[in-house]
Amino acid sequence: MSMNYAFCFSLFLLILVGINIYFFYTLNTVQKQGKSFNIPSLKSDAPPGVFKEIYQYLNYLPSPYKQRNSKFTYIQKNLMQSFNSTNVMDPVNVLANVLTWASDELLFPHKNGMAGKILRAMRTSQIVLVDNAPKGTQLKMMVLLEGKQKLYFKPKRYQLGDIINGNIYAGFDRHNSEVFAYYLAMVLNFTWITPSVIRRIHINNDILPVATEGLKKTMVKNESGSMCIYGKCYYCKVNETVCPDSRGEIEGAAILYLDKQFKIYKSPWRRSYTSRKMEWEKDNNFCKKIISTYSSKRLLNLIDVAIFDFLIQNGDRHRYEVYKDRILLLDNGKGLGNPNVDELDILAPLYQCCMLSSSTWQHLEMLSGGSLTETVKLLSAFQDEKLATEDHYKAVERRLLKVYATVQYCIGKYSSAKVSSMKLYSRAIDVGNELTLPDGLLELSTKMMISQFHPLCQIFNEISQDHLIQRDCLNMSRIRIPNSIKAHMLFYYNFYIPTSARVCNEHNGSRLGPVANRQCLPII
Ligand SMILES: *[C@@H]1O[C@H](CO)[C@@H](O)[C@H](O)[C@H]1NC(C)=O
Ligand SMILES: *[C@@H]1O[C@H](CO)[C@@H](O)[C@H](O)[C@H]1NC(C)=O
Ligand SMILES: *[C@@H]1O[C@H](CO)[C@@H](O)[C@H](O)[C@H]1NC(C)=O
Ligand SMILES: *[C@@H]1O[C@H](CO)[C@@H](O)[C@H](O)[C@H]1NC(C)=O
Ligand SMILES: *[C@@H]1O[C@H](CO)[C@@H](O)[C@H](O)[C@H]1NC(C)=O
Ligand SMILES: *[C@@H]1O[C@H](CO)[C@@H](O)[C@H](O)[C@H]1NC(C)=O
Repeated sequence: MSMNYAFCFSLFLLILVGINIYFFYTLNTVQKQGKSFNIPSLKSDAPPGVFKEIYQYLNYLPSPYKQRNSKFTYIQKNLMQSFNSTNVMDPVNVLANVLTWASDELLFPHKNGMAGKILRAMRTSQIVLVDNAPKGTQLKMMVLLEGKQKLYFKPKRYQLGDIINGNIYAGFDRHNSEVFAYYLAMVLNFTWITPSVIRRIHINNDILPVATEGLKKTMVKNESGSMCIYGKCYYCKVNETVCPDSRGEIEGAAILYLDKQFKIYKSPWRRSYTSRKMEWEKDNNFCKKIISTYSSKRLLNLIDVAIFDFLIQNGDRHRYEVYKDRILLLDNGKGLGNPNVDELDILAPLYQCCMLSSSTWQHLEMLSGGSLTETVKLLSAFQDEKLATEDHYKAVERRLLKVYATVQYCIGKYSSAKVSSMKLYSRAIDVGNELTLPDGLLELSTKMMISQFHPLCQIFNEISQDHLIQRDCLNMSRIRIPNSIKAHMLFYYNFYIPTSARVCNEHNGSRLGPVANRQCLPII
């Protein structure tokens, strides 16, 4: 068989495949449209259209995002070691040194078991003073421990099973959300957060003997003669007290106090807290408008925070504190309100900017298949804490899939280049779709394709392994890749084929013969 003949024959096969895929793809598309028949198709880029697209990607999420990633095993083991507080001797000394350990990379030490030691010390150290902590909208106290370390204490307001209805910022703070957020952030490797742990303090033994006069003034005896606290804060009311339980204890989140100066900024994605819509809620090109006012570092940081807030459903980060040019994850009490709701607009920074730092993405990809919440459970078990109902854990996993789907949406919209790096982002705007594949993508996609179970898999696998789809192949007389194949590759395999890609005849097609023989062709 001559080379040319082989090539022509293989092209014929390729076109045949293309036609088949086209049908297949059309069938799929038709089916999809059938499902959402009643929804009018929105031409504008307003959020509902975006949500619809993200949910379509969610329905077709590649299976690796639902499976465990073995790369995480080692990291999980290290985290377990950091939080294992089995052998903690002297809590006072642990806390005495905490702040001196802080560095540019580390807010608090957490390697070598330190994370667990700090939590244990925060839970058990003797309390020497309790006062109101009047800053902020929610009731909290300032607790001084022996050894002079301070804690914020946010008392429990709800049972774990209570569901907060209403808007995303409704209700009191959830003390368990503060603690859950700490563990979650540590698993996500968002270390710019202060340690937080569940602590129970006894009203008669731990609070009253060391309460300041100011705190005592904000306490009332309730009908059964028990001392209850209403505190001092923006929303604190005499009739909304916190009372001890039947053992005389008040449960709450003990949050390590960070004695540093922060800069405070308004979030560009803040809510109006009225029915008025903010600009980001009306304009899906909002990111383009603000992109020049923020450094790329800050923008990527805001996007990380949005992902974190989406997972716990904290829709209340109207402002943020910055320390050493990084956003602190402070005030996480508005999470875990309702496990049945996923307010997708918390992800607006991600789906409007379609950027993500590659280290965040690499880490997120490792947490698939249940590892994320499993690790939160394992770590909090060292302090014997139950932080949320099973429904909440399931909800966080479900939301993680939605984060993956949102990234897929961005890949579909801009090619994956934009997702992983800022530099390529500007190129994507400059040259439209004419992106070349970043180094490594081809290989990555090949691996991904092999792991997929799909009749088309082998064919595309074959093509990409032989580099039949060429990048920088600018000779226009060469064969273009059919759009249907491009769409399919993108949709199912995350594999972006740039418009400049061609099938080149340097590849003599000898490999396509065997594919046909392997009966990969019939797909409908
Ligand atoms: C196809 O090209 C490869 C090198 O790229 C060569 O080794 C092989 O002999 C060629 N096959 C045919 C049938 O020409
Ligand atoms: C915690 O550490 C102790 C001793 O250092 C060890 O025996 C135990 O197995 C560890 N627990 C877990 C769950 O890793
Ligand atoms: C966590 O992030 C730091 C940078 O902040 C990085 O050096 C470290 O390798 C990351 N750890 C893991 C397990 O990804
Ligand atoms: C407490 O009183 C305020 C009015 O001062 C009222 O709006 C609020 O609903 C009351 N809260 C409870 C729990 O009764
Ligand atoms: C008063 O406090 C006790 C003990 O904390 C509690 O069991 C009871 O429900 C409280 N009563 C009222 C009316 O709040
Ligand atoms: C473009 O490709 C065709 C067919 O492969 C070839 O005949 C032609 O010489 C190429 N042109 C250039 C400028 O490379």
